[in-house]
Amino acid sequence: MSDSIAGPDCAAWQSLAVASHELQQQSTAELFAGDPQRFSHCSVEAAGLLFDFSRQRVDQRVLTTFAELADQLGLRERIAAMFRGDAINTTENRAVLHTALRRPAAGGAPLIVGGQDIGALVLAERQRLLDFAERVRSGRIAGSSGKSFNRVVNIGIGGSDLGPAMTVEALRAYAAGAPSMAFVSNVDGCQLADALADADPARTLFIVCSKTFTTQETRANADTARAWLRGRLGDAAVPQHFAAASVNARAMDEFGIHPDYRFAMWDWVGGRYSVWSSIGVSLAIAIGRSHFEAFLAGAHAVDQHFQNAPWAGNLPLLAGLLGIWNNDFLGLPTLAVLPYDQRLARFPAYLQQLEMESNGKSVKSDGRAVEVASCPVVWGEPGNSAQHSFFQLLHQGTPRAALDFLLPVQSSCGNQPQQELAIANCLAQAEAFAFGQPAPVGQPYRQYDGNRPGTLILFQRLDPRTLGSLIALYEHKVFVQSVVWGINAFDQWGVELGKKLCEGIVPLVRDASQAADAGLTSSLRGALEYLRRT
Ligand code: F6P
Repeated sequence: MSDSIAGPDCAAWQSLAVASHELQQQSTAELFAGDPQRFSHCSVEAAGLLFDFSRQRVDQRVLTTFAELADQLGLRERIAAMFRGDAINTTENRAVLHTALRRPAAGGAPLIVGGQDIGALVLAERQRLLDFAERVRSGRIAGSSGKSFNRVVNIGIGGSDLGPAMTVEALRAYAAGAPSMAFVSNVDGCQLADALADADPARTLFIVCSKTFTTQETRANADTARAWLRGRLGDAAVPQHFAAASVNARAMDEFGIHPDYRFAMWDWVGGRYSVWSSIGVSLAIAIGRSHFEAFLAGAHAVDQHFQNAPWAGNLPLLAGLLGIWNNDFLGLPTLAVLPYDQRLARFPAYLQQLEMESNGKSVKSDGRAVEVASCPVVWGEPGNSAQHSFFQLLHQGTPRAALDFLLPVQSSCGNQPQQELAIANCLAQAEAFAFGQPAPVGQPYRQYDGNRPGTLILFQRLDPRTLGSLIALYEHKVFVQSVVWGINAFDQWGVELGKKLCEGIVPLVRDASQAADAGLTSSLRGALEYLRRT
């Protein structure tokens, strides 16, 4: 099957187009009326997740056509190519093997890529990382004055921040006894200042997470952190207070990272897929070895499910094609992600990078233009707070969004009576969006149209294993969508131009007198003039 075939080239795509015209004439209520068993026909339970898509605007014919589309695209073989390490990131000629990072320690067959056993490499580094994490947690690795660490400051940005930050917050209940965690990404230095305001230098461990170790924001924050530490504890203390995860050994040498405190990464791990790697060191320190292993195991369960489950019950396939259905056939250009658990507050931000940096593209892998709408805008907030802010628009606004509700049964903080309120809120909203309510006579402003499609993802509790499964579900959803749109999901060329222009602008910001001859646009000159005046 040629990789240059995308969804719109397939007969199944045309069938979906026809079906979408018909289904748009049918209300969600009618779909339910036509199938009394709709919940059991439109929900799947796997890897600890109950994926309920009964409120989506699909019928059995559409679901069957999803499977046909997958077959016409050769999706099975495309999945196999990713898992075996083919260089599917074609613009960078790289394999994509974040799935190798969560293979279990025991019983795995070797995974030979480019003549190297990637499986063995991963396991060896994972053991180093987890030993380090345990020793930091227990105080056996301590600061230069022998005091145990009580604060860890993770310095990184993008995938080197969002993954660790989101997961540490989500799994707070599993972090008893660990140092407190702070995450610093923003180049303006304010997050770092806040993280250090009440930090004891003798008890602070910095972790510099950067796949490349060249990222401007991370370098700036790491340099400031090192100066802060040196100023308080002296130069000799640096190696005992800085750890790092990167592919760039030379840069770690130059920075002064102790060989025992540095952890390898590989170019076949994309930044937004890296929380399973050494980039997850803060998470490993927060939750410890066994919970980190459970986190990997949850993702691995979804990896196996994705490779083996029939299409009709395959969660990533369903999530991916429901997303395409909403975006390309029902014309819903955004996806609102609504967790009903405050500890998943950063999950929408995490998904923004995962989905939009992966599929936010308009050129296909074969160099031709993507001919349909690609990645929707992903956004969201914890659902209950959002009910009191933007849900008004979601219920009654003219722009419409697809909705993902994430709902744990058990409270993440032990307050089950209040979690029951969260559950009731979530279910009430899912029903209101799906079924709406007619307006009382003479009060059109009280009309709820309904027919807003939503998926409800239910799980027992937000534990390491479930969180691993949840993230992997979205990762593979993104992969499915990339195959349908014909996109390489694993590069991110769109971020380069701004970075390059910034390099040229930094000196002008610092010394606006240089701006006069620099051949600038009038907008840029105007802003620099303003900087000079103030
Ligand atoms: O600029 C985008 C990006 O390359 C992301 O893909 C990545 O997660 C982030 O920057 C950070 O990169 P690094 O880990 O190399 O510092």
